[in-house]
Amino acid sequence: MRLLVTGGAGYIGSHAALALLEAGHTVTVVDSLDRGHAGTIETLASIGGNRLRFAHLDIRATRPLTALLLAHEIDAVLHFAALAYVGESVLEPLRYYENNVVGGISLLRAMHDARVSRLLFSSTCATYGEPAAQLIPLREDTPQLPVNPYGQSKLVMEQLLRTACGGETPFAVAALRYFNVAGADGAQRIGEDHRPETHLIPLALEVALGKRAELLVYGNDYATQDGTCVRDYVHVTDLVNAHLAALDALEIGVFKAWNVGIGHGYSVLEVLESCRRVTGAMIPARIVPRREGDPSMLVADASAIRKDLHWQPTHCSLDAIVLSAWQFAKRGSVPTA
Ligand SMILES: NC(=O)c1ccc[n+]([C@@H]2O[C@H](COP(=O)([O-])OP(=O)(O)OC[C@H]3O[C@@H](n4cnc5c(N)ncnc54)[C@H](O)[C@@H]3O)[C@@H](O)[C@H]2O)c1
Repeated sequence: MRLLVTGGAGYIGSHAALALLEAGHTVTVVDSLDRGHAGTIETLASIGGNRLRFAHLDIRATRPLTALLLAHEIDAVLHFAALAYVGESVLEPLRYYENNVVGGISLLRAMHDARVSRLLFSSTCATYGEPAAQLIPLREDTPQLPVNPYGQSKLVMEQLLRTACGGETPFAVAALRYFNVAGADGAQRIGEDHRPETHLIPLALEVALGKRAELLVYGNDYATQDGTCVRDYVHVTDLVNAHLAALDALEIGVFKAWNVGIGHGYSVLEVLESCRRVTGAMIPARIVPRREGDPSMLVADASAIRKDLHWQPTHCSLDAIVLSAWQFAKRGSVPTA
């Protein structure tokens, strides 16, 4: 197939582009390089050869995007491009709506005009907000009540996409609601390298490497087994495999939403212990006050995607996910150019 990957210079989009190239597809990456890395595109090009095309473009530029979809005869779109820092979204809500919602509408307009109807959308467990303890693990029909502009922008897009599936030229959409994504390509060609980094596992590994003095643990007074927040970690390769399966399952006029997580939660302290075990490093940590808007527990009920798409994650232990991230972290970082 000929696929468009928005945000393909970023963490998850680049792993998806890599898997698609390795599966023999032709991939056009669109990325503004606002948060992604030019070096990642070079790595993808070295693997995909002329089956990898890159357009340095903001998805809000609807006309060039439409032209690209037509010129490359795109069959389906995997839409990863977004701003994705919760804290930043609280400080700059307009920027998040402009990028994630206006950008998403621009992409839909371009797809509509180029008659491309198949779309996979990167959604998030942040759309569930702060669910009550009795709602854990979260099913797809758990009420979505996001508590920050990032989660709100993703929920608006889900609602829009659901509506677009019933329109006069219907789309075929799957929204994959990711839980916490971690780990790297098995051959460490690419990996997680957000700048700035805000995710727990790469931050702990930066401490292990001596790039950071200590790990900050935000709050130890939550109603969890050890008082720290609990999250569900899914390996990026397993997440990408969920996309490949969802791509085959798209149906015109149908909007589907699937949670993608392992279905098991780990506390911040358990993740820290895993990072210590895997790296053999002390990783000093300090408890600091809670951050606003951090839900105590987000764990997926991922039985729907397992049943519907026969999705089977292969990295089910936390240590395996941390080891994968560690192998990439030791390598250094993604070259920026
Ligand atoms: N990383 C996670 O744990 C996680 C969890 C849930 C959902 N998600 C979602 O997955 C997607 C990818 O996340 P990531 O961690 O790879 O983020 P990332 O920041 O590494 O990648 C996003 C990419 O999109 C590009 N981009 C952003 N806005 C753009 C625009 N307007 N036009 C063109 N390119 C643009 C950035 O330059 C970047 O390369 C996002 O939509 C995010 O909301 C991520």
